Amino acid sequence: MQSEELTLLEVPEPEAIRDWATENGILILAHSYQDGFLQEAAHFVGDSLELARKAASAGADAICFAGVHFMAETAKILCPDARVFVPDMDAGCSLAESCKAEDLIRYQEHLTKKLGKRPVTIAYVNCTAAVKAACDIICTSGNARQVVESVPEDQPILFVPDKHLGGWLNETLGIDMILWDGACEVHELFSVETLNVMKAENPGSIVLSHPECPKPVRDASDHILGTAGMLKMVKAAQGETFLIGTEANLIYRFEKEAPQNTYLPAPGASCACNICPYMALNTPEKLWKCLHERGPEVTVAAEHMEPARRSLQRMLDIV
Ligand code: 13P
Ligand code: SF4
Repeated sequence: MQSEELTLLEVPEPEAIRDWATENGILILAHSYQDGFLQEAAHFVGDSLELARKAASAGADAICFAGVHFMAETAKILCPDARVFVPDMDAGCSLAESCKAEDLIRYQEHLTKKLGKRPVTIAYVNCTAAVKAACDIICTSGNARQVVESVPEDQPILFVPDKHLGGWLNETLGIDMILWDGACEVHELFSVETLNVMKAENPGSIVLSHPECPKPVRDASDHILGTAGMLKMVKAAQGETFLIGTEANLIYRFEKEAPQNTYLPAPGASCACNICPYMALNTPEKLWKCLHERGPEVTVAAEHMEPARRSLQRMLDIV
């Protein structure tokens, strides 16, 4: 079928898309930041860590990854024999963009000279395959503490690319990792002023923030959690009101899996800019087209595959 014809076709209901993918041997994975339609169409919805684990264990021949590019690369690295497709090749990530592998390697060399010893580089999973290949171990928001704690205390650590997640780890663990100056453009826009107004308007509400949020927002929050940690917390709660300091599509999952609570998205400073513009590039139409065309396909440079897999495997061996 020609792609022009496909764009004219009506997109089926999410369940029908999933069934079609099953019949055609394609596993659909979706991050919890995807909109409700894409979450419903997926065989599995999760956070970065759960999706990495699923990709590694599923044994799929073909994966359609509804998420952003670094997540699809991670699936390809952990499942090298599978073909990995994405609905939109331009679905990148501002945080991953903030750390170029060549800059990282130069900085690692500079630090090695300065410290007289090579620092251990921990990379948050929101980075490119080339950065994963240049670091020693990966972490996600769900396991960052355990990964950092696995490094011997006398080892200097360089943490990339998120300065906010790294700053939060430094504060909570009482350590002094060297931080890369990167940030997520979505989480940077949450504002403590608007959050405080919301808190005042919703007395008794519980504020959950992602560790990618800046310190003033984290300090005004009750719990700092990755998306899977937030889901666990709201499932265990009864009749609470939660203010959610992360990408607002996550609320679809909360309302589905823990409807007993109320969820309000924390706003940005001057807009409702709590939707990741990269995740939003993936639409039902593009998903349907991607499944039929088996593309665009994500590839990882041969020289990055093995070192990046090693860095990911070290993480998966810890948690
Ligand atoms: P999680 O690690 O919680 O899945 O979040 C990924 C992400 O992109 C946060 O902005
Ligand atoms: Fe990247 Fe931020 Fe979007 Fe997460 S929310 S995928 S860190 S740009």
